[in-house]
Amino acid sequence: MAAGKSDKRLYEEWDQRWHAPEDNECLTMVGRRMFKAKKKALWAVLQGIDPGSICEIGCGLGYTLGFLQEAGYRCEGIDVSANAVRECLRKGLKARQQKLEDVTDVFDLVSSDGMLEHFLHFEPYARHMMRISRKYVLLIQPNYDSLSGQSLAFLANVLRRKVNVYEYNYRICDFVSVFADHAFQLIDSRPVFYDVCRILLFERTEVKK
Ligand SMILES: C[S@@+](CC[C@H](N)C(=O)[O-])C[C@H]1O[C@@H](n2cnc3c(N)ncnc32)[C@H](O)[C@@H]1O
Repeated sequence: MAAGKSDKRLYEEWDQRWHAPEDNECLTMVGRRMFKAKKKALWAVLQGIDPGSICEIGCGLGYTLGFLQEAGYRCEGIDVSANAVRECLRKGLKARQQKLEDVTDVFDLVSSDGMLEHFLHFEPYARHMMRISRKYVLLIQPNYDSLSGQSLAFLANVLRRKVNVYEYNYRICDFVSVFADHAFQLIDSRPVFYDVCRILLFERTEVKK
């Protein structure tokens, strides 16, 4: 059980998860279809705002980062895991090993795909994302409000319990409320692949000093 686990242990667990990246690269047919749908939805969201610089926090093996860079965005990835960053660099992606908590640069848009739900308390990490964002924060989060989201999480728990890093079942409204408390307003919420997950786009409502 992951509850109460310190950040250090969680970060070690992630690095271990990406120890043999080739074992993680074989997306299933459903995984491939989901990723295709995610790219399409992400493209549509980004077309509406056209950010100058993007930072993908928790870039992992670089699926989303790779898409953003291929699509021509000025984007860099940051991940706490040395194994993940090594794999991104091997793929020719721009990435560096760093903890979100230690990042001092500022970007137009700060994104993360599948990271916040692994923290027992996600708010401090959400605040770090807002701190380094000039204008937007984009999250891709599992949607536990949808039947498809719940079913997929159940299946993943049964079939990949030993491999996957534990995730908490935060609801979309949890993210919306934390961001609203810090003057970031939800301006887009887009379902991906039968609403298994959602792309949430938040915009800063106060000018950053
Ligand atoms: C689900 S994976 C992301 C997968 C990735 N979005 C992709 O497209 O391949 C979550 C990632 O967040 C990273 N991570 C967790 N906490 C972090 C932190 N505080 N700072 C930076 N990266 C972090 C983990 O190492 C892990 O690689």
